[in-house]
Amino acid sequence: MQKVYIYKGFERFWHWSQASLIMFLALTGFEVHGSYHIFGFEKAAEFHRTASWLLIGLIIFAIFWHVTTGEWRQYVPTTKQLKAQIMYYLSGMFKGEPHPTEKTHLTKLNPLQRMTYFGFKVVLVPITIISGILYMLYKTIDQNDLIVIEDYPLASIAFWHMLGAILLMIFLVVHVYMTTTGTTPTSNIKAMMTGYEEIEEEEHHHSTEKDNNQKDIV
Ligand code: HEM
Repeated sequence: MQKVYIYKGFERFWHWSQASLIMFLALTGFEVHGSYHIFGFEKAAEFHRTASWLLIGLIIFAIFWHVTTGEWRQYVPTTKQLKAQIMYYLSGMFKGEPHPTEKTHLTKLNPLQRMTYFGFKVVLVPITIISGILYMLYKTIDQNDLIVIEDYPLASIAFWHMLGAILLMIFLVVHVYMTTTGTTPTSNIKAMMTGYEEIEEEEHHHSTEKDNNQKDIV
């Protein structure tokens, strides 16, 4: 077993605060929707707005970090080894085959994760946030009678926001399942908490050659 440093302090802070905010936004958002009662409608709406500002602030901060450190390159999608990675999750891992790609601080994401997270950042999160901001503006416009737009499309804003929220929840379930597919069921989660991941020695050697290919694109 070898310990490899994968996630830097900022990445760990960002990951867990983003995860907590999204789960809290889901909790309060679905209460606003009327799915259940925990805080009461007024409080839930207020908490939802506060948390959404925190999330927007965090995302701006994270974009700044990724741009200034060059870490954004880790998310550029690639098809190299993509098929091998999909086959691994579909069958290889159940037969005990080694991971087809290696994880280092230079290649923290495998090809499938690059695709998924790219979609997450470029499509899913923007849909939810943009519709959320429009939702917020709608209320202000409506309350203050600033503009009277007969058919300000609230229904479609709510639709996109709900779609984003539901897809985010699906993402969360799949994401948590995928975290159990590391060297041990908890090694990935531990890595996101401590920064260090335990990787099988053999696995490490096995994929060095392939990993070199991956590094080319980083
Ligand atoms: C920056 C991000 C976000 C903003 C600005 C935002 C804003 C809003 C606003 C303004 C509402 C209407 C309720 C109200 O007046 O307070 C709302 C509802 C809701 N939000 Fe968000 N939200 C954001 C992120 C999220 C996330 C990440 C989720 C879930 C994962 C979520 C789930 C919901 C749900 C389920 C509703 C109820 C929708 C409905 O019943 O039509 N929101 N949001």
